[in-house]
Amino acid sequence: MKIVLLGAPGAGKGTHCKRVAERYGIAHLSSGDILRRERAEGSELGKKAQGYMDAGALVPDELIVEMMSQAVKKASAGYVLDGFPRTVNQGQVLDKSLAAQGDGIDMVINLEVDDRVVVERITGRRSCPKCGAVYHVKNMPPKKDGVCDKDGTGLVQRPDDTEEVVRNRLETYYRQTKPVVDYYKSGRTVHDIDGNGDADVVANVIFRKLDPLARKKK
Ligand code: AP5
Repeated sequence: MKIVLLGAPGAGKGTHCKRVAERYGIAHLSSGDILRRERAEGSELGKKAQGYMDAGALVPDELIVEMMSQAVKKASAGYVLDGFPRTVNQGQVLDKSLAAQGDGIDMVINLEVDDRVVVERITGRRSCPKCGAVYHVKNMPPKKDGVCDKDGTGLVQRPDDTEEVVRNRLETYYRQTKPVVDYYKSGRTVHDIDGNGDADVVANVIFRKLDPLARKKK
């Protein structure tokens, strides 16, 4: 199964892609997570991406396309893409490279969330630097304040999760990434899902779309 999950920053892409990957036994390929790993390792790619990420801008397509092509090639059991494609060019390159192998994306889901909710979610997000688990100070708090439930590591805030940078990320989203939704809609069905609600409710709506596809793919 090959899924694309689109949505603004803070729409819940990471939260729901994780659940989708677990439920269907496919890889969760998050361009943001891969870039953050590259940064933590101090790689050339990580160094190049740093300034763009901290400012809330997009990392240039040529760096991202190569990075994600490699990730996609390795995911032989299928995948859900989180944060990619994020420009129309990235979407076209992905479609072309899949088509060259007689393949294609099985379903595109678009999570729709109000800007006010985005800012509230992102500024309250905390994550575990060790295992990557994601929490929210109000909506999904850890059992013990500031500490990861899974491994007891102190939770951190992403450097691009300040209100000022979130506003830039939203502006970048409307200018460069929203057109990706229109790109997909021009050639196929895109499943718009209201992502404003409770995470379990949203997850169930997503599963109702994906369960029949998973049965067909078995
Ligand atoms: P990336 O890491 O992809 O960031 P993003 O798209 O801005 O998305 P987020 O990770 O902020 O949000 P999310 O939708 O995953 O929400 P989450 O589930 O965590 O990218 C970071 C940067 O990398 C970019 O700015 C760019 O520079 C670069 N980059 C990445 N990909 C690129 C590409 N393809 N091309 C170029 N550059 C690229 O949820 C957020 C919070 O809300 C959490 O605290 C969560 O617990 C909570 N929450 C989630 N859902 C719910 C719910 N339903 N109810 C209540 N709370 C919820």
